[in-house]
Amino acid sequence: MKKLTAFCFSGTGNTRYIVEYLCGKLSGEYDCEICSLPFHGDAGRAIAASDVLLFAFPIYGSEPPIPMRQFVHVCGERLRGKKVAIVETQYFYSCDGAAGIGRTVRKYGGKVLWAEMFNMPNNLSDCKAFPIKNGEEIAPVLEKARRRADRFAAKIVGGKMCLRGFSPVSHALGYCSQRMFWRKGEAAKRSRLKIDKTRCVRCGLCVRQCPVNNLRRADDAIQPLGRCVLCYRCVNLCPKQAITLIGSAPPTVQYRGPK
Ligand SMILES: Cc1cc2nc3c(=O)[nH]c(=O)nc-3n(C[C@H](O)[C@H](O)[C@H](O)COP(=O)(O)O)c2cc1C
Ligand code: SF4
Ligand code: SF4
Repeated sequence: MKKLTAFCFSGTGNTRYIVEYLCGKLSGEYDCEICSLPFHGDAGRAIAASDVLLFAFPIYGSEPPIPMRQFVHVCGERLRGKKVAIVETQYFYSCDGAAGIGRTVRKYGGKVLWAEMFNMPNNLSDCKAFPIKNGEEIAPVLEKARRRADRFAAKIVGGKMCLRGFSPVSHALGYCSQRMFWRKGEAAKRSRLKIDKTRCVRCGLCVRQCPVNNLRRADDAIQPLGRCVLCYRCVNLCPKQAITLIGSAPPTVQYRGPK
């Protein structure tokens, strides 16, 4: 059986949900393995052993998350000649969200054959402009995403190319409407993480769950270490709703994820 390795970054579970569903659909044709980013294994060996590589990530302001951008460069020349699929998840808009990583993969000689974007529930829980929904309220969105994943899986199995968001128009729109501004402000956003000491009970959940070990326990507080990649996991998990990132106040409703 052919081998597919999925490298997946997922802050709050949406991207992981799509990747797991997709791998279920592909399991008759591919032996699928899902590796979370940041990846601490032997990337070279994983790539060499795979017939197809899948890169999966959420979009942040039409830009892929930092761990995904970094990982593609770690793969580098080992991508040459490899068949690549891309899954991008978003709340509602990115234009060319999947294509950014696709362009880098192509620079290294990878063959990007399939790319798809999936609308999923919002996880930006401290931004009042975008409402948070959970449970039954998100069921229709997930159902629609699963149907899209069915069609995407059929294209991978059938060897039919699908490159959503790769046109020059999408590229220009993604850049001009979002990415240009996002890139300028990305460093500032990464340093905005605030933990309300009066709410925090130092349970350590955020420390344990941060995918990039950006949080550590200090004597009387939780301290960010300047490595935040804006995934929103801690903001949505904190049992005391003590964490704020891009917004101006902690969330009143947290995103619980698709499961
Ligand atoms: C920092 C940040 C920026 C985001 N920017 C966008 C965006 O520009 N467009 C969009 O449609 N969704 C945006 N979203 C929503 C996420 O892309 C979406 O909820 C995604 O499915 C989350 O995936 P995950 O659960 O795998 O982390 C953003 C989310 C975060 C945390
Ligand atoms: S999860 Fe919340 S309450 Fe627990 S240590 Fe982190 S900030 Fe404090
Ligand atoms: S500090 Fe929070 S938002 Fe930043 S990377 Fe860690 S879990 Fe994600």
